[in-house]
Amino acid sequence: MIYLDNAATSFKKPEAVYEEVMKCMREYGANPGRGGHSLSIRASMEIMKVREKLGWFFNIKDPMRICFTKNATEALNIGISGYLKEGDHVITTSMEHNSVIRPLNTLKRDRKVEFDVIDCNQFGEIDLDDIKKAIKPNTKLLVSTLSSNVNGIIMPVKEMGSLASESGIYFLLDASQGAGSIRIDVEEMHIDMMAFPGHKGLLGPQGTGGIYIRDGLKLSPIIFGGTGSHSEIVFQPEMLPDNMESGTLNTPGIIGLGAGIGYIEEAGIDNIKARKHELVKTLHEGAEEIGCVKIYSKNDPKSNSGIVAMNFNGIDSTEVSYVLDKVYNIATRAGLHCSLMAHQTLGTVKSGIVRFSPGPFNTLDEIDITLNALREISNSI
Ligand code: ALA
Repeated sequence: MIYLDNAATSFKKPEAVYEEVMKCMREYGANPGRGGHSLSIRASMEIMKVREKLGWFFNIKDPMRICFTKNATEALNIGISGYLKEGDHVITTSMEHNSVIRPLNTLKRDRKVEFDVIDCNQFGEIDLDDIKKAIKPNTKLLVSTLSSNVNGIIMPVKEMGSLASESGIYFLLDASQGAGSIRIDVEEMHIDMMAFPGHKGLLGPQGTGGIYIRDGLKLSPIIFGGTGSHSEIVFQPEMLPDNMESGTLNTPGIIGLGAGIGYIEEAGIDNIKARKHELVKTLHEGAEEIGCVKIYSKNDPKSNSGIVAMNFNGIDSTEVSYVLDKVYNIATRAGLHCSLMAHQTLGTVKSGIVRFSPGPFNTLDEIDITLNALREISNSI
């Protein structure tokens, strides 16, 4: 199988990820923070090391401000639902995933939170002036994706963060697409909250992710329960990360995430980005030469986190993706990618898009095979 669906989840993972998950499960897989015995303490310490690694990776000074979640969706729900109150106004972009839009629509219905969606152009690019114009006295939050999961367009995150900071509103970044191949510095980019998955570009296992919450920002948890701390009080402990980490953590997954970040550190994030772009560029340029193919992503590493989004004119994306899988053994994702608004922006709601998302372990040979498959499909239409 040629796996070109790394935007959904990275596969395969670095060897160290498999090894460290197994090592944790076999050697120290006790419950972290829930016992005074040596194995529980070891599990807690290993988790702390991953928290510190993430802190270093994103320039988060206090790693205790990073709370582990089961995925970026849970983290976004904490950031959105845990912060907004009745009457608050939010600004977001038309390239967001349902994990931003559904919580916002739910709060609009249930908590009278208002929000404005800033329309992006046909490539998903945003105009900062449009954000500026949408700011109102009750605007409390700007939410943006780092890059689109549909076509990879990269948002001007640093500029958005500065604008939010100057305007006295918080900035929540959805780093689901791009973390692991785009450098993120929460200080330089004025990020107040950041949701990230562990299983995509950070190369860890599924069931991992987290939220960074800037010092001084108080959110309400969305889940309550045992934290392994302050069992004598009947309410949720206030301190982070315990406030947001009820229930036993996914220790093996978090350890695997630490190994994923270790791999990125060793390989170099800029090298990973350059490698992915080489694959994207080859696929993009090859596909451009094929008749009846329309491309919705940009062929420029500054604008694209690593996706080639395309369609064959007049053919539903799911049909093409099905043929790629069944006939050519190539994995892509078609349809609407849980991002209806992004498809409305790109004008692809009816057909969907065939999304090719290479990862750091794909090869140019695999891209050549993919291009041959696309040529054959084009000839058969
Ligand atoms: N959000 C993931 C994707 O884009 C699952 O495929």
